[in-house]
Amino acid sequence: MDESRVREREPSLVHAFRQSTPYVNVHRGATFVLMMGGESIAHPNFANIVSDIALLQTLGIRLVLVFGARPQNDEALSRAGIEAHYHKRVRVTDDPSFALIKQVSGGLQFDITAKLSMGLANTPMQGARISVVSGNFVTAQPLGIDDGVDYCHSGRVRRIDVEGIVRQLDQQNLVLVSPIGCSVTGESFNLTSEEVARRIAVDLKADKLICFSSTQGVLDRQGHAISELFPEQAEELLVALEQAGEEMSGTARYLRAAIASCRGGVPRSHLVSYQEDGAMLQELFSREGLGTQIVRESAERARAATIEDIGGILDLIRPLEEEGILVRRSREQLEMEIDKFTIIERDGLIIGCAALYCFMEEAMAEMACVAIHPEYRNSNRGDQLVAKVAERAKRLGIRQLFVLTTRSIHWFRERGFEPLEVEALPVARQRLYNWQRRSKVLSKTIF
Ligand SMILES: CC(C)(COP(=O)(O)OP(=O)(O)OC[C@H]1O[C@@H](n2cnc3c(N)ncnc32)[C@H](O)[C@@H]1OP(=O)(O)O)[C@@H](O)C(=O)NCCC(=O)NCCS
Repeated sequence: MDESRVREREPSLVHAFRQSTPYVNVHRGATFVLMMGGESIAHPNFANIVSDIALLQTLGIRLVLVFGARPQNDEALSRAGIEAHYHKRVRVTDDPSFALIKQVSGGLQFDITAKLSMGLANTPMQGARISVVSGNFVTAQPLGIDDGVDYCHSGRVRRIDVEGIVRQLDQQNLVLVSPIGCSVTGESFNLTSEEVARRIAVDLKADKLICFSSTQGVLDRQGHAISELFPEQAEELLVALEQAGEEMSGTARYLRAAIASCRGGVPRSHLVSYQEDGAMLQELFSREGLGTQIVRESAERARAATIEDIGGILDLIRPLEEEGILVRRSREQLEMEIDKFTIIERDGLIIGCAALYCFMEEAMAEMACVAIHPEYRNSNRGDQLVAKVAERAKRLGIRQLFVLTTRSIHWFRERGFEPLEVEALPVARQRLYNWQRRSKVLSKTIF
């Protein structure tokens, strides 16, 4: 490679690598259930997805991979001249169909295991050494008979061997699960991969369920991915898909699984594209992902800071301290004052903070160290933060809030803060006033 190209590419590599560090830390030790339908396994991008799965495993993420085989089953059945039967959107698996379906699933299991075992030099899989484990982790039971229709070998999940899966994950093994479950009667049953993945995610109390769909998440009318949905909103979209006759599309099936997982306690489920190279990595390791996440509660919340947040607060305020916008605080000082901080957290990252120093005698309080991460500004977060801090101050009996600022005077003025003389500050604060910095004092009555 010519030298100028190396130089040209390195800064973006270094930048991207550094940017991903907080996500690497957030995800390490987390449990993800990956759900791959048969379509994604058949797609040319599958090899890249496998490399990305290897990367997740290398980064210490505990992985359960559930695969489906719907298109492969349909193809095998049609090749054998067997007509597929459905009742209430569920396949009726008779004896000849099931014989083929078991073959297909078994074949896919071997193929996926083989792909995960690759280690060719000069490929992302070099040195990955993933140990893949499959087993009888899913106990099934027959669906039985409905409206006089016998579902035969189609079944539902009865129980997940959580302990067995956890034992494998503890040993850094990747658990590969097929859509065929075993029953206590010694039979096996054909399950939907969505149900298997959802049950495993919920029972395992996984941190994420990641579904690979044909589109980049759920799309709005303009064709853009909707980045975040609550289960109720996702449900509305699901109903619309069902009404449009797309109830069996990948998006509908995955949405159903994601909604149910969310309601079952999985904090976040993602829909990412299996067609786009790197979609999962972008979703997991960049500030604004590409796909759709279904979240139990907003991925963002304002809350009181704890000692664990110190690193994140320092990352946020250091650049502003270096520019002279905020007054420098040492880690020790921050540790002592952490209970005074309110933060905005998004996806485990701290993107906003503010501190409240009370002067109880005067019923006054200083709001200091107000900062919103540059990439998240101009979306009202500053406003929300100030409102949250003011609320906290009110509860403590504070009647007047003040700030000392050098560069955000207008920002506070626009939010009702009025100029105040230094002499009007609590005496203890006056003594600390830095006359060289010459910050403007602004205040607001809050009751
Ligand atoms: C000030 C700050 C907290 C605002 O955060 P934010 O989330 O972008 O604020 P909001 O979205 O609620 O408000 C955005 C509006 O304020 C304006 N604004 C942002 N920073 C401003 C500043 N320093 N001075 C004046 N106006 C400012 C924006 O232009 C925008 O105006 P618009 O709505 O007319 O487009 C953020 O810019 C920041 O962290 N600044 C650096 C730290 C700082 O100065 N802290 C104050 C000292 S304690």
